[in-house]
Amino acid sequence: MLFIDQVAIAGKKLLFRVDFNVPLENGVITDDNRIQAAIPTLKYALDKGASIIICAHLGKPKGQVVPELSLAPVAQRTGELLGVDIELIPGLLGASAVEKAAVLQPGQVLMVDNLRYNPEETGKTAAERGDFGQRLAALADIYVNDAFGVAHRENASVVDIPQFIPSCGGFLLKKEQEFLGDALLDPKRPYVCISGGAKVSTKLGILTNLLGKVDDIIIGGAMANTFMLAKGYEVGRSLVEKDLVDNARAIMDKAESMGSRLHLPVDYVYADSVGATEAGGVCAADAIPADAVVLDIGPETIKRFVVVLARSKTVVWNGPMGLFETPAFAKGSQAVCEAIANLDDALSIVGGGDTDAVVHSMHLADKVSFISTGGGSFLEFLEGKELPAFTALKESLNS
Ligand code: 3PG
Repeated sequence: MLFIDQVAIAGKKLLFRVDFNVPLENGVITDDNRIQAAIPTLKYALDKGASIIICAHLGKPKGQVVPELSLAPVAQRTGELLGVDIELIPGLLGASAVEKAAVLQPGQVLMVDNLRYNPEETGKTAAERGDFGQRLAALADIYVNDAFGVAHRENASVVDIPQFIPSCGGFLLKKEQEFLGDALLDPKRPYVCISGGAKVSTKLGILTNLLGKVDDIIIGGAMANTFMLAKGYEVGRSLVEKDLVDNARAIMDKAESMGSRLHLPVDYVYADSVGATEAGGVCAADAIPADAVVLDIGPETIKRFVVVLARSKTVVWNGPMGLFETPAFAKGSQAVCEAIANLDDALSIVGGGDTDAVVHSMHLADKVSFISTGGGSFLEFLEGKELPAFTALKESLNS
């Protein structure tokens, strides 16, 4: 698989797939990290004398033109960061895209509006995707994939374009591969995985894959509740996935024999409802009040988790420890974030939108080694899966 610095791009038209799926409130971007992350590759291409056609998705418009999900604010912000005007090609991919791409000059940048306005983009089979990838490919000479956030999606713009024009990865894709792939192949030890967030269902793959590879697995967030049930504890009215209790038990049973220590909460901060703004109190993990919901890990759990983190040499963190958006339930996630930021001489990797939000809200982004731009793709990469974007680039026209 090639990366952009191994390809002659001067004077060429580059079709860039990026992940600019940023949060918007009333049409205003509230977090532009994903745009910032792709800027080095875009700048590099412009400096080398290429022209650029950017394509990306926003939200899930499900094959319809949804004006609120237009990339217009994203084009504006990207232009500001690159110092160029970016023309947005509105609506569905059609004749105007072809005409505009044909006359694009070195240094100029176009953006195709939300790829997911076109139903073929997310077609489940090659037949459903039709010739959309080929039509996108026809706009340019070379395809550059710098969209790690969709690397796990078999979308036309991810897997089909490389069949038609020479293709390579951008610097962001390269960095993600270096940190999540290469660095974790032979990690410095102790190697600690800290997993949180709402659901065990989205983390089963990663937990199972990491059993035996990591020295310690720390589990917090609402997903720990299912483990509590598996231990035979009551969890009051807290969020649980009852159908996954057996899976949680299997992970607990296997962990030790496979050489991974499993750390679960021993106490909790609870409240009377998920919408509460104040804590009702702190309870032991085996004494959660019947009418309570647990919304954060408790002080004793924080102490124990911090001890494990403090001796680690490699840490991977995905998922907050509690309902961190509410200040009363943010302490667990903040303590974990601080413990990771305080590590000297350790490789620390953070992934997933909520986890990223915790790190940025504490202004500690420069204290972790790497923040992945992936959510689902980050988890699937750590599950040990070969992601479709990488397969497509490896099998692209260049090879
Ligand atoms: C993300 O936000 O994780 C990526 O942009 C992928 O979005 P998707 O889950 O809608 O495919």
